[in-house]
Amino acid sequence: MKALSTSQRATTKPAPDGADLPEHIPTHVAIIMDGNGRWAKQRGLPRIAGHRAGTENLREILRACVEFGIKILTIYAFSTENWGRPESEVKGLMRILEDVIDRELKELDKEGVQLRHIGDLTAISADLQRKVSNAIEQTKNNDRLILNVAFNYGGRAEIVHAIREIVKEGYEPEAIDEALVSRYMYTGTQPDPDLIVRTSGELRTSNFLIWQGAYAEYYFAPVFWPDFNKEELRRALVHFNERDRRFGLAE
Ligand code: IPE
Ligand code: IPE
Ligand code: MG
Repeated sequence: MKALSTSQRATTKPAPDGADLPEHIPTHVAIIMDGNGRWAKQRGLPRIAGHRAGTENLREILRACVEFGIKILTIYAFSTENWGRPESEVKGLMRILEDVIDRELKELDKEGVQLRHIGDLTAISADLQRKVSNAIEQTKNNDRLILNVAFNYGGRAEIVHAIREIVKEGYEPEAIDEALVSRYMYTGTQPDPDLIVRTSGELRTSNFLIWQGAYAEYYFAPVFWPDFNKEELRRALVHFNERDRRFGLAE
C-alpha cells in the first residue's frame, strides 16, 4: 500500500467522551443495518427479536452520530425486496416501525433529529403512512441530525420513480443532466453519502443508494447490526479517514 501524504494521514482529536476521534468526519453516513436475523438465531431467538434488538441499538448510534458531528444519517430499514420474506416477519417489521414512532418520536424531536423518509410509503397501511407523515412534519425544523429512514426503499425503484417524475414534468432531453436527476432522487438536495457502512460481513449493496453512492467509501463491519455500537462506528470513521478519496483525479 502506498504511503499516505501528511494531508491524507489520519489524524486524531479527542472526542467529547475522551477517546480519539478522527479529524475528518463525514457529513453523510449511510448504514445497511444487516444481520438481525443471524444475531437472533445465534441466541435461539425468533428473527423478530433480532429486529427489535436492532431497533434498540439505533438509539446509541443516533447519539454517537450527533456527538461525532455527523450531519446526515441514512438507515436502510426495509427494502423493496424484503416484501418477499414470510408474512409474519413483514408484519413484525411494520409493527416495529409503528412502535418506534409511538415510543421514540418525542425523544428524537427533543434531541434535534429531523426525520425523513426515503422510499415508497404508498404500500404501507394508511394509518402508518399518517404516523410517518406526522413525525416528518413535527420534526421538520430540527437541524442537529437529519435521519433518512429508507423504508420500502430500493435504489432501482428510486431511479424509475425519478425518471417518471422527470418525464411527467416534460423536460427536454438536453435539459436532463446529473444534477437534475439527483434532485429527483428521494434524497433531493442532500449531499451524497460519504461513507456507506454495512454490518454483518456481507459484501454487497443490496440495492441501496445506487445513484447517490457512486463515490461513497464503503466500510464493511464484521458484527451483526444489534452489536454495532459507538466503538464500531468510531472504527468505521477511522477507516474512512485512511481512505484516499480521488473522485477520478490523478493525485
Ligand atoms: C437486516 O437484518 C434487517 C432487515 C433486512 C429488515 P436481516 O433480517 O437481513 O438479518 P440476516 O441478514 O438475515 O441475518
Ligand atoms: C438489505 O439487507 C436490506 C436492509 C438492511 C433493510 P438484506 O438482508 O435484505 O439483503 P440481502 O438479502 O442479504 O442482499
Ligand atoms: Mg440480511
